[in-house]
Amino acid sequence: MDKKNTIKKITNTEYPILDTIKNRWSPRAFSDTPIKEETVKTLLEAGRWAPSASNLQPWRVIWGIKGTETYDRIFNCLDEFNQSWAGSAQVLWLNVFKKTMGKDNRENFHALHDLGLFMGNVLMQAESMGIAAHQMAGIRFKDANKEFKFNDDYHVATGVAFGYYGGDVSKLPEGLREQELKETRIRNAQSEFAFNGDYKK
Ligand SMILES: Cc1cc2nc3c(=O)[nH]c(=O)nc-3n(C[C@H](O)[C@H](O)[C@H](O)COP(=O)(O)O)c2cc1C
Repeated sequence: MDKKNTIKKITNTEYPILDTIKNRWSPRAFSDTPIKEETVKTLLEAGRWAPSASNLQPWRVIWGIKGTETYDRIFNCLDEFNQSWAGSAQVLWLNVFKKTMGKDNRENFHALHDLGLFMGNVLMQAESMGIAAHQMAGIRFKDANKEFKFNDDYHVATGVAFGYYGGDVSKLPEGLREQELKETRIRNAQSEFAFNGDYKK
């Protein structure tokens, strides 16, 4: 699906990469076009096939479509800042990971890593379907844990707002409009994070 009426972003890559990676960005204004349940299941399916340490698949997801009670319950778990813009999302979800593994409940040190891989798959699948995602650390995670009946073995890590690209920027709170329209996406240079030898600060 092409991204009609969407903001054009400039992504200056140092080397050529897949368009799906290059074109993804995180809007705060989403199109009114609803996301169907079947589409949510497709996103979840993409995540399902992510690799994970010992194939433990420590991810758990709570999802809700706009207009449903679950959506509202997730919305109520977002912090005030994220609530100020996330209401145009057509789907909200919470990413949760199981903290321990094995019969002796050892810490699964790689659980958060694997949840990230899960989301990487979801993001790429979404992008290929014209759907944008905006991940959120700003959630009231303890409240979310209780609200959705997770015990202490689970950590609610992030929220995600999904919607088709092409939202109405004028409906965003004033301070966020400029940020939404910023043309050039910024990243650290490869030389700052990748080393063919010792790490150099
Ligand atoms: C784990 C995670 C947490 C984030 N938390 C928030 C958040 O609470 N609120 C927000 O507006 N954006 C949040 N973001 C979005 C990032 O700021 C955004 O991905 C980053 O600036 C890069 O922009 P891009 O995704 O458009 O390339 C989060 C992103 C990630 C991956």
